[in-house]
Amino acid sequence: MGEPPGDYRRPSVRDGARPLAGSYYTDPAVFREEQEWIFARHWVCVGRAEQVPVPGAYFEAQVAGESLLIVRGDDGLASAFYNVCRHRGARLCNRVQGRFPAAIRCPYHAWTYGLDGGLRTAPNMDGTEGFDRDDYPLARARLAEWEGFLFVGLDRAAEPFEEAFAPLAGKFAAWHLSGLREARRIDYDVRSNWKQVIENYSECYHCPPVHPQLCRLSPATSGRNDLTEGPFLGGYSTLNRAGGSLTTTGHTSRPPLGEVAGEDLARVYYYAIFPSLLLSLHPDYVMAHTLRPIEPGLTRVTCVWLFDPVTMAGPGFDPSDAVEFWDLTNRQDWEVCELAQLGARSRAYHPAPYSNAEGLLDAFDREYLRRLKGP
Ligand code: FES
Ligand SMILES: [Fe+2]
Repeated sequence: MGEPPGDYRRPSVRDGARPLAGSYYTDPAVFREEQEWIFARHWVCVGRAEQVPVPGAYFEAQVAGESLLIVRGDDGLASAFYNVCRHRGARLCNRVQGRFPAAIRCPYHAWTYGLDGGLRTAPNMDGTEGFDRDDYPLARARLAEWEGFLFVGLDRAAEPFEEAFAPLAGKFAAWHLSGLREARRIDYDVRSNWKQVIENYSECYHCPPVHPQLCRLSPATSGRNDLTEGPFLGGYSTLNRAGGSLTTTGHTSRPPLGEVAGEDLARVYYYAIFPSLLLSLHPDYVMAHTLRPIEPGLTRVTCVWLFDPVTMAGPGFDPSDAVEFWDLTNRQDWEVCELAQLGARSRAYHPAPYSNAEGLLDAFDREYLRRLKGP
């Protein structure tokens, strides 16, 4: 089969490269190191900007064991605050989402913070020597918005978001991602390590036995990659018919997103964005998985299906053909991720070299190890 034009290639793998040792998937000490060296030091996707549509709207995000409140301010900007009161440290808010009336009030002694994190009132503190309200704003994490996704950075010394994401600047412009809206969200608790979920996403070697429905619409060997090193990995697979999509019928009645045209009408693009976002761009919708490691063998995966709001407002809009297709495919994936996790615990886990269909896994493993070990 000839190579397509452009920079897209079939995956390749270094000679002799093998999967990670089993302890990387199972050892609590490795898990703690990952929390410290990866999730606390790099930009981590936590959701979509539309989850905080108006001032006071918030949701809770958990990153590297921290609870954060993502809050839209009066000035229209979103912030990420540690969910920790500056008085004696009580958790400020125990709900996963909602809207603060005008301020954030600690339930313990009623210290009250503005939506900008500034401490507004602190009862009975006026007589406390050396106390100045200005010295006690809520602690902030960095927050960046990219294509409608929100990313938290706990490490103030880390690379600025714009630099870290420069390789992706403009790459997905045709899909008009920031204007898309969520039609459906499903949370999955996958009894597997977070890296298994990304590795499984990064190959279609498993597609013929695991995803017969997917293979009827998109050949398992059609994958071509353009990003094959570093924190962003992926490429596209081909749809059997232009004008179709990955749906329960293989058809779609929705128009293409944004400026999607030409050969992109017969492709689905898949990118793994280190360490926790999997972005799947179809002609007529976008699916995004965000991963939150909970334990070495447990990952919370949140899957959202994003559509053009004009299409969503039209008569008869129904996302279920896309949602049901991928909900089935997701569950097929989680099942094999869980099988892989079970095997990684065994004394008999001595994996074979990666195949040439697993080049992205080798690239992911190398990036992961580089970041785990720090500079
Ligand atoms: S711990 Fe929040 S007001 Fe006391
Ligand atoms: Fe799969």
